[in-house]
Amino acid sequence: MTDVNGLSIAILGGTGDQGKGLARRFALAGLQVLIGSRSAQRAQEAADSIGAGASGDDNAAVAARADIVIVAVPYEGHKALLESLKGELAGKIVVDCVNPLGFDKQGAYALPVEEGSAAQQAAAVLPDSRVVAAFHHVSAVVLMDPAVDKVDLDVLVLGDDREATDTVQKLAEVIPGVRGVYGGRLRNAHQIEALTANIISVNRRYKAHAGLRITDI
Ligand SMILES: NC(=O)c1ccc[n+]([C@@H]2O[C@H](COP(=O)([O-])OP(=O)(O)OC[C@H]3O[C@@H](n4cnc5c(N)ncnc54)[C@H](OP(=O)(O)O)[C@@H]3O)[C@@H](O)[C@H]2O)c1
Repeated sequence: MTDVNGLSIAILGGTGDQGKGLARRFALAGLQVLIGSRSAQRAQEAADSIGAGASGDDNAAVAARADIVIVAVPYEGHKALLESLKGELAGKIVVDCVNPLGFDKQGAYALPVEEGSAAQQAAAVLPDSRVVAAFHHVSAVVLMDPAVDKVDLDVLVLGDDREATDTVQKLAEVIPGVRGVYGGRLRNAHQIEALTANIISVNRRYKAHAGLRITDI
């Protein structure tokens, strides 16, 4: 399934900044986008605000209908939501972009996760799904900005299923400017999630929406 043309992409928590930003870029690229929410009405409102053929429904309905499902909810609600959608997500590529972070006076920092990372938590909860970690460092502000034609960064894609990571690399690349780069097995997702705390520090110091590029590949 490495060709993503014609696939439908559901976004759990697609009413939030990150989900809506990804939804907007995928819809503009011509993919069928299904916004998910705990409220079908909020999902529909978010889909209407995006346009480009996006539609909305509750998280379970969009998870059941889509080919690929992106998880874009806060870490606090991550495990319980995925536990509730085990059946709908079975057999599907589930893309986790959740960064378990805490914030205090010194800024952002990585939270410990019993399973190692949010992505590994997803894999533990969803043994019948093909869990991939990606889109951790893409700024929602950039994704939503109509003035940004090209999103200047690499998306690191991690997972244990080669066909699934290849597919998600291709999915990332429907966003103009983005390159999808394989970033290792799921057991290395913690560093990628935690690195977001460093990127937030960069953004605060330099008043930027920084992205990463991997050189020499
Ligand atoms: N913002 C970014 O730039 C960015 C970048 C990379 C990765 N991320 C990651 O993407 C995820 C979403 O970020 P965000 O900024 O979009 O967050 P958000 O706006 O706070 O939340 C996204 C959506 O999740 C749903 N939600 C909230 N609490 C929930 C719970 N307890 N259980 C189930 N659903 C819940 C809400 O939708 P409903 O109320 O409609 O259900 C909300 O609109 C986070 O894990 C974050 O680490 C964010």
